[in-house]
Amino acid sequence: MSLAQLQAFIGHLRQNKVFEQSDIIRIVKQMVQIDRRIGLLAVSRGYLKPEQVNAVLNVLLNNIQLKFGEAAMQLQYMTQSQVDEMLKLQQNDLYLFSQAAILARVAPPDRMAGILKDYLKAAPPDEPLVESKERVATGRKVREVLSNVKTVAALPGPAQKILAMLQDPDVDVDQVAKVVSVEPTLVALILKIVNSAFYGLRSRITTVTQAMVVLGLKKIRQVILTAGVMDKFQNIPTQQALKIWDHSIHAGQWAKEIGMALTFKETEEMFISGLVHNVGELIVIQYFPAEYRQITSLIEKGTPQIEAERRSIGGTHADLAAFTFETWQLSTETIQSAMFHHHPLGLLENVQNLSKHALILNLSVSLADMEGTAEEFEIMAKAELAYEPYKALLGNRDVDMGRLYGRVNNAVKELKRIFA
Ligand SMILES: [Fe+2]
Repeated sequence: MSLAQLQAFIGHLRQNKVFEQSDIIRIVKQMVQIDRRIGLLAVSRGYLKPEQVNAVLNVLLNNIQLKFGEAAMQLQYMTQSQVDEMLKLQQNDLYLFSQAAILARVAPPDRMAGILKDYLKAAPPDEPLVESKERVATGRKVREVLSNVKTVAALPGPAQKILAMLQDPDVDVDQVAKVVSVEPTLVALILKIVNSAFYGLRSRITTVTQAMVVLGLKKIRQVILTAGVMDKFQNIPTQQALKIWDHSIHAGQWAKEIGMALTFKETEEMFISGLVHNVGELIVIQYFPAEYRQITSLIEKGTPQIEAERRSIGGTHADLAAFTFETWQLSTETIQSAMFHHHPLGLLENVQNLSKHALILNLSVSLADMEGTAEEFEIMAKAELAYEPYKALLGNRDVDMGRLYGRVNNAVKELKRIFA
C-alpha cells in the first residue's frame, strides 16, 4: 500500500467527516510510534513469542543471505503464509494508520476495522511488494550492530560463570562460594550488602558462605549480575552512569513493590528486570560512540529517542538489551521487560504472550521517569493515576501507590548507599 493510497484514504476520511482534521493530524504523528519490523508485527499477531525474536536474529547473524521471515521459518516458528501476511502488513500504510488511530484513542479497534472494511470495498488493489532501499540498509545496520554486541557485551568471565552455576536450583552453595571467593570485588560487595541496614543483622557476617546462607541464592544471583554489569560498563562518564543507575534502581524497586502489593511470587526477578532494563543504552554509549553521537544530535533536533535510535542503529536500546539478555541467559520475563519497556500501553495491549511481569516493568519505568520532575506529593498523585490504565490488565486489584512511593524512596536511599 503506497503513500498515495494512504493519502487517498485520509482524503476519504476528511471528505466523509469520519474523523476531525485535528484527530487525523494526531494519528499521523502517532504513526512513527508503530514499529513496522516484521518481528514485532509477528509478535503482536501472536505468531512469534517475544523472546523468539532474539533466536531468529541469532540465525540471521550466522547467515547473511537470510531474511527475517526465512529464518523464522527455518526455526519452524512461522509458516510461509504467516510470513507473507507479515510482509504485506509491514508495507501497508493503511494498517499502520489504523494501529496509530487505535493507539491515539481516536477510534477503538472494532470501529477502525469497520471504517477500513468499508473503504477497501471500493479501494484499488494492492501494489506488488518492493523492498525499499532504506529498509535494506536498516537491515544491514541491525546485523552489523548485533554481531558487534555479541562480542562486546559478554559479561566478565567470573560473573558469567557464577550466573551459569546459579541457573541450577540444586547447585552446591560451597562450590559457588569457592568461585566467588577468588573475586575480591564480588566478595566486598556481597559482604557490604549482607551487613547493610536492609538485613539488620546483630552480628557481622565475614565470609561468603555465611552471606550466601543469609541472602539466599536468588539474592546472590542479583548481586553477581549487578556487579558484572557495573564492571562491564565502568568506562561510561560518571554523571551519565549515575543518572542511568538512579533511574534503573527506581524502576527496579517500583517493580518489586508493585509485584509484592499484587502478591506476585518472583519479585526479586522484577527488581533485576528494572535494574538492567536500560543496559542497551549503556551498550550504545560505550561501544557505539559514533552512532551514539548521531542519536544525541537527532534528539537535540527534536527527534524522539526511540526514533533517533531506529534511524542510527536500525533498532532501539530496548531491542539491544533484549538481545543481550538472551546471551546472558536471563529469564524470559526480564527479556520481555527490556524489549517492551518503551512501548505505549495501547500497543502492549496488542502483544500476545506478554507476561504480567513485563507489564509491571513497563509501568515501573514510567513511574521512575517521574522522579525529580515534581514535588513528592504530586508524584504520589501521578503514580495513582499512572496505575489506573494497568489495573484491569493486572487483575483489577487496588494498590495504594502513594504508600508504595514512600517504600520505594526508602529502599532506593539504602541501595544507593550500598552501590555508591
Ligand atoms: Fe529505556
